[in-house]
Amino acid sequence: ARKVIIDCDPGIDDVLALLLALRSPELDVLGITVVCGNVPTAQGGENALKALEFLERLDIPVYLGETKPLVRTYVDAMDTHGADGLGETFLLRSSDVSSKEGAVEFMAKTLREEEGVSVIALGPLTNLARLIERYPDALSGLEELVTMGGSYRSHGNCSPVAEYNYWCDPDAAKMVFEAFSVQPALKGKHLNMIGLDVTRDIVLTPNLVEYMCCLSKETGDFIRNITRFYFDFHWKQEGVIGCVINDPLAVAYFVDRSLCGGFLAYTDVQTEGVAMGQTVVDTYDFWKKEKNSLILTETDPFRFMEFFISRVFDVSED
Ligand code: BDR
Ligand code: CA
Repeated sequence: ARKVIIDCDPGIDDVLALLLALRSPELDVLGITVVCGNVPTAQGGENALKALEFLERLDIPVYLGETKPLVRTYVDAMDTHGADGLGETFLLRSSDVSSKEGAVEFMAKTLREEEGVSVIALGPLTNLARLIERYPDALSGLEELVTMGGSYRSHGNCSPVAEYNYWCDPDAAKMVFEAFSVQPALKGKHLNMIGLDVTRDIVLTPNLVEYMCCLSKETGDFIRNITRFYFDFHWKQEGVIGCVINDPLAVAYFVDRSLCGGFLAYTDVQTEGVAMGQTVVDTYDFWKKEKNSLILTETDPFRFMEFFISRVFDVSED
């Protein structure tokens, strides 16, 4: 199994991604690091622990990371994810396991000490930016980075052009993209950008949730509870029945490359003005810069759903 650290801001779709990751035998999740995003870091840590408790995987450590973006004022996404970040389910947990401090230090230590560790980043890139800033030597241990964020052709989800994770901390996103073209430790590598171009196609519908409830009452009910608020949000905001679940596609793509296709390009991130958080992708190589990103633009939503369901709903569970 491939070793991964999941850096996230749970978040409804982050938790769906954790369900997928922890029920994918191809992955060995070494730890979960939390960053401020959908909810403040401490709340995100609680939500990660709630997901681990549900999965009976409290053996996996949860580390709290940065509590504010590098430069900008922090703006949460509780309008989308609810006041508790899990669709206002206010789930209680019974274990007394707690999260630890020091997400960035955990990342650095793990990358230095273990072979072949990758990071799947499902939130703003603040923890990774701090890693680059404080421990650039540790980057040589990074096998791969998959980040959910940005958009290439697709419109934004929190401004006309920007996606939330990069918009929340554009300076961090810029620093991470930049690192893949300038840091000696990352020479020849690129990050994988699972942006809105592909995640917008991943729509969880009420009938899919019903189907999930038929497959497993326990897991189905858990997903139904936490997505209810997300459904309401999409219905009120966009008149859409069903919710876009972004983060699980990044996990799925990490396991199965045939789920998304795209192209290599140099990408920069806008940090100010009306286009703050926008990914500026040099598709035609005007700037002749090192290609720092694989921009994923195509996916197959049905194959993704099959992939998600076959792993998250282990039929031997009930
Ligand atoms: C991203 O922003 C968050 O609200 C989601 O969890 C996802 O990571 C989508 O723009
Ligand atoms: Ca997220």
